[in-house]
Amino acid sequence: MGEQGKEPFRVTLGVSAGISIYKSCDLVRRLLERGCEVRVVMTDHATRMVAPVTFQALSGNPVITDLFAGAGDPSIAHVELAKWEQLLVVAPATANVLAKFARGLADDFLSTHYLASTAPVLLVPAMNGNMWRHPATQENLQLLSARGHHLMQPGRGQLACGDYDDGRLPEPASIAEQALHLLQATGRMAGLKVLVTAGPTREPLDGVRFLTNRSSGKMGYAVAREAALRGARVTLVSGPVALDAPVGVERVPVTTAEEMEREVGARFPESDILVMAAAVADYRAKAVTAGKRKKGTAGAWAPELVPTSDILKALAPAKRPGQFVCGFAAETSDLKANALQKLREKRLDLIAANDVSKEGAGFDSDINSLVILAPDGSEQRVPETTKASCASALWDAILEARGEG
Ligand code: PMT
Repeated sequence: MGEQGKEPFRVTLGVSAGISIYKSCDLVRRLLERGCEVRVVMTDHATRMVAPVTFQALSGNPVITDLFAGAGDPSIAHVELAKWEQLLVVAPATANVLAKFARGLADDFLSTHYLASTAPVLLVPAMNGNMWRHPATQENLQLLSARGHHLMQPGRGQLACGDYDDGRLPEPASIAEQALHLLQATGRMAGLKVLVTAGPTREPLDGVRFLTNRSSGKMGYAVAREAALRGARVTLVSGPVALDAPVGVERVPVTTAEEMEREVGARFPESDILVMAAAVADYRAKAVTAGKRKKGTAGAWAPELVPTSDILKALAPAKRPGQFVCGFAAETSDLKANALQKLREKRLDLIAANDVSKEGAGFDSDINSLVILAPDGSEQRVPETTKASCASALWDAILEARGEG
């Protein structure tokens, strides 16, 4: 059973044509062992590597290979399957399948079904290392990640082509664990009101110039998206970023720290959980020059900067019993000590510390690593992974700390 005394979890397993397809056979068994019912969809090329009858025997269900084959009305089979499933897993997900999903091409059953599906999606890429690193593949992965899909990072090791490189399909047991985790998380936050902040703020210096930072909003958006996927009602107070609002999330756009403070303050009393992932500017100009300040009119320009108000610190006295506040700490040294100091100063229930001096992670990247700290100094480490996975681990930690894990 999916969970004690309940119906099995319903999983569609999409299988595309990678050499690691033999691991997908084992994955079916691992999912069954964890109380899932599995329906397999194979691409045409995948059927040339493993016969559908193998997956049929393992899953105990007919295997779908063709838009126009099988029982029932072929024109709606992909829609029926979409209504049935609670999770769509694609393993291995080849570069071709990722490209089709990213761009919305629907020329076979799996890609058509993907468009019809509203279930959470877990993509497990596997391919040659150069194909994995190719900008086209990486751009497609960014699109899919921004859409809220869960991506497992391929492992490093001996590949079918003989190279020792990135691109290996993770082990079936860890894919099944990740799938189970997503199934269990879905809907668990129903009824909770969540407030998230994301992105930078902009503090004007004159009519055209401003102070800001490198925050892209990706971390906060992933936090908001994950809460919505788990069934929470989510409001996202967002600084200026180039991201679409996650599906089902109410977005409140702001520009300055003062505006963010006002919008967060207005919504905080009715929220159950606040997560502040925004990189709020710590300083603003004391006086904003009207219009565009002319270059060279008065030599050097040294606008006087004054601190912005600390939004989290200001909210602490207003916190009511049962409300939960999680901050982030962006650090370049002494990660744990500095983050713990912020947690205590701002009277937080948790803080997610990230080392923003790391190359390719933290600010303006799809990757991050977190150290999640509690007031008693206990810690949970989330090693470098996608921001979607960081967000998922953070919500697990928040729910556990609230006794809802
Ligand atoms: O947006 P991305 O490109 O995805 O990058 C993600 C991130 C690095 C911005 C994110 O993971 C992160 O660390 N966000 C917090 C950045 C920050 O401002 O950290 P801080 O250590 O300066 O602040 C500590 C906490 O106080 C934060 O929760 C911050 O939101 C809050 N704060 C800060 C200043 C202020 N005036 N008011 C606040 O409430």
